[in-house]
Amino acid sequence: MTEKMKGSNNQYQSIPISKIFKIQLHFINFLTYLLVLVFGLTLGIIISFYLKECTFSLQFTQLSLSSLPRTQHLSPPIAVKQERVGLKDFLKPPPIMHDMDDEELLWRASMTAKIAEYPFERVPKVAFMFLTRGAVFLAPLWEQFFKGHEVYYSIYVHSNPSYNGSHPESPVFHGRRIPSKEVEWGNVNMIEAERRLLSNALLDISNQRFVLISESCIPLFNFSTIYSYLINSTQNYVMSYDDPSSVGRGRYNIQMLPEVSLNEWRKGSQWFEIDRELALGVVSDRIYFPVFQEYCKGSCYADEHYLPTLVSIKFGEGNSNRSLTWVDWSRGGPHPAHFLRSDVNVKFLERLRSKKCKYNNGESTNACFLFARKFLPSTLSKLLKIAPKVMQFEHYDRPNKHKLLSFKQNI
Ligand SMILES: *[C@@H]1O[C@H](CO)[C@@H](O)[C@H](O)[C@H]1NC(C)=O
Ligand SMILES: *[C@@H]1O[C@H](CO)[C@@H](O)[C@H](O)[C@H]1NC(C)=O
Ligand SMILES: *[C@@H]1O[C@H](CO)[C@@H](O)[C@H](O)[C@H]1NC(C)=O
Ligand SMILES: *[C@@H]1O[C@H](CO)[C@@H](O)[C@H](O)[C@H]1NC(C)=O
Repeated sequence: MTEKMKGSNNQYQSIPISKIFKIQLHFINFLTYLLVLVFGLTLGIIISFYLKECTFSLQFTQLSLSSLPRTQHLSPPIAVKQERVGLKDFLKPPPIMHDMDDEELLWRASMTAKIAEYPFERVPKVAFMFLTRGAVFLAPLWEQFFKGHEVYYSIYVHSNPSYNGSHPESPVFHGRRIPSKEVEWGNVNMIEAERRLLSNALLDISNQRFVLISESCIPLFNFSTIYSYLINSTQNYVMSYDDPSSVGRGRYNIQMLPEVSLNEWRKGSQWFEIDRELALGVVSDRIYFPVFQEYCKGSCYADEHYLPTLVSIKFGEGNSNRSLTWVDWSRGGPHPAHFLRSDVNVKFLERLRSKKCKYNNGESTNACFLFARKFLPSTLSKLLKIAPKVMQFEHYDRPNKHKLLSFKQNI
């Protein structure tokens, strides 16, 4: 380097002035470039520092102020502080009309937390699961029943796919129909429908009690009485008994061995009321259900035997072995009595409400039945007139003839 400098010094003498001037000019240019470079670098560093501070302060101001348009516009895309999500997304049930098939649905519904305590405030709900052929024709009565209790219940409807629901669905039932399949009464596909209902209801973590209801069912008490009864109960309500006759043990098939023996075979009404634990047990049963699918067909009437047998074998201890749904078998025959408009009166309803049973395994007595069936569509207007008073519904509208008429015309 020094040698080179020396060399150029030596050359100095022979170089004309114009050339010297040119070299100086180059040198000045070089200096200018250097200066611009240094200046640019400094400016860049300063700006980057400034921006950093800006985003830093932005994060802070965003906590207190909702908007700061000028600085926000300056800052690069940064993670804007959002409302806490926590478990909110995880706990949100999928849409009622999801596209899961039965296998996917049952699998998802069978999941449960290993930690029993909930890390959030959970208001337990009662899931009312309507298994119907078509319209819930007593919907206006149920609407009066549900009124004002929105956070304490959820509704699910399974109806035959052929029913296209063309009538204006009543508000509480609107959009509550789950993906449904064909059901023939007495067929094992009725159990599939019940498991489908249970699975859909299990997807909502708030549901604690699960009630199966038909379109001809009515409630016998007001919502708060039924809610307290169910939520405070330590038992399940699945009717289950050993019937030695031809319509009991007579329906047993020896091929069900070894999973189900004749001694374990039970009968009972299909209209159940169970807690979350048992609901999980039912949807995740992969031992007994396939046996019923295979060997309980036709006049076996799986709906009268599957749940009573399963519960008796695996969940007998917590079961009351009785149903909460009253039905009149007194007239004999293979089907219970239907009730017409002329059967419905205050005395009749009071009689159903006044039956007493042991509650929570004998600790106290309480109502035997919370629901009753089988009420035909013709009973609706009469029920609307007398039931809200007899059953002491908390909030109800006076029956509106006009509304009722249009509803009836549509079903
Ligand atoms: C429902 O089905 C009936 C007959 O099956 C048909 O006449 C009617 O148009 C359908 N309504 C809707 C909304 O699809
Ligand atoms: C359960 O019973 C207790 C005491 O009997 C009562 O205080 C409580 O409110 C009841 N819970 C519900 C949900 O009704
Ligand atoms: C119901 O029946 C089961 C057996 O199936 C039995 O373990 C249970 O104690 C019975 N419950 C009552 C309340 O009798
Ligand atoms: C609900 O019904 C019960 C009787 O089952 C009654 O004691 C209670 O007062 C009713 N609630 C209201 C708000 O009317």
